[in-house]
Amino acid sequence: MLTKENGIHFKTISSTNQYLLDNQLPHGTFIIADSQTHGRGRHNRKWYDIPQSTFLFSVVLYYKNHLEQLSYLSLITALCVIEAIHQLFRDLNLPEKNLFIKWPNDVLMLQNNTIGKLAGILIETIYNTEQYKVVIGIGLNWKGVPSIEDDKIKFPPVALFNVDFEKSPSLFIDYLLNKFNEFSIENPYDFVSYKSLIHQYHFLHNKIIKFGNKKYLVENIDDKGFLRLKDEDNKMIVINDWNEEFEIL
Ligand code: BTN
Repeated sequence: MLTKENGIHFKTISSTNQYLLDNQLPHGTFIIADSQTHGRGRHNRKWYDIPQSTFLFSVVLYYKNHLEQLSYLSLITALCVIEAIHQLFRDLNLPEKNLFIKWPNDVLMLQNNTIGKLAGILIETIYNTEQYKVVIGIGLNWKGVPSIEDDKIKFPPVALFNVDFEKSPSLFIDYLLNKFNEFSIENPYDFVSYKSLIHQYHFLHNKIIKFGNKKYLVENIDDKGFLRLKDEDNKMIVINDWNEEFEIL
């Protein structure tokens, strides 16, 4: 079970993911930081934060069995983030947020008719014969959004709260750990039981995307966490999370 006692807090750190990759810390150790100097996202992108206003979190887990379905680990993580936010908003008596999983690893939020990126997930692994070390990193825009000048960004960053919200991002830890335990993140071999819930939040469902120079209709996510697409001749293809460079039309 993941518990709060296994957390280490840093005011500033290079990257919470890197720290757990570099150090051999026990299963379930998590790091939170007020800010990162070298926060990173997928495909070597930078992850920007606002000190003390972004939820920066990484946890290390050791699995005995090789995890074939890393994509669904990232989908379950996104599901935990969304369900934790829903619980937090219920406890604060605030109206529910409109949240989506953007396959394979983002959490999007719809607000005032605009959809933006609320959180990103970065899963990194080190595999040797005895064990499979997995670091799950989450960056969530808690209050206010960092300014990013990048015209290639598909979804502009959005934050959960306004800048004047007085509670710190650390409030979110209990909510997230509870959901990690509820959805058995330590034993992520049972994707099928959470599949329908993941589909409820599946942002790309029924959207047309352009992949390569062809257009596809997005169907569902398969049992491995891969994305199933149908081309214009009704032929099915499956893409994994390494070739997610597609355009949403
Ligand atoms: C992405 O959107 O591509 C993933 C972003 C992941 C950012 C988080 S912040 C905490 C952890 N430490 C990092 O350096 N990255 C992840």
